Amino acid sequence: MNKISLSTGITTFPMPAAVISVGIGDEANLITLAYVGKVCLNPPIIAISIQPKRHSYKLIEKHGEFVINYPTKNQLKELDYCGTRSGRDVNKWKALNLTKEQGTIVKVPMVKEFPWNMECKVINRIELGSHVCYLGEVLATHSDDQFVSNGRLDPEKFNCFAYVNGTYIGLEKGIIGRHGFSML
Ligand SMILES: Cc1cc2nc3c(=O)[nH]c(=O)nc-3n(C[C@H](O)[C@H](O)[C@H](O)COP(=O)(O)O)c2cc1C
Repeated sequence: MNKISLSTGITTFPMPAAVISVGIGDEANLITLAYVGKVCLNPPIIAISIQPKRHSYKLIEKHGEFVINYPTKNQLKELDYCGTRSGRDVNKWKALNLTKEQGTIVKVPMVKEFPWNMECKVINRIELGSHVCYLGEVLATHSDDQFVSNGRLDPEKFNCFAYVNGTYIGLEKGIIGRHGFSML
């Protein structure tokens, strides 16, 4: 096997891609992020990273809350739209016909049409360089009941996709193993 050195700018893969809501009322905006990852189980904490030049940056700074919204593969175009237009120029909710839905805890709205939503409160922020990392405690989660089996999100029903080196990859080949299967 021949290994070659690559840029250290390479990312882990696959990455999630999600649409994050930030801001309240008429100011509420949507931004697509790939820098999203769970970093603690208890309390449940998810880290997201945003560049300060984004319109969304000032909104997360202002309110200290965000919602992670996961679209299905059929809503990929909406996800890409939110990651290629700025809320400075366009109202992404209106342009995409998306509906603001009030969650149970945070004031930032969820995206009603996206079936999986996590309400988060910023508990810490770290200035890392190009990005500011926000650690968000997950205070409530919501899922469309058609995607849930035995009280858990069912990855096969949900029609998941991932983001790898600038491309969206479908995961429809299905489950190839379950956590702990090597112990059986
Ligand atoms: C798939 C994808 C992933 C992205 N991930 C990030 C990210 O993790 N952090 C970030 O600051 N911008 C990321 N972006 C870029 C922003 O989503 C994009 O600049 C967006 O237009 C900013 O919107 P705003 O100006 O309304 O805040 C990503 C874009 C795409 C399409």
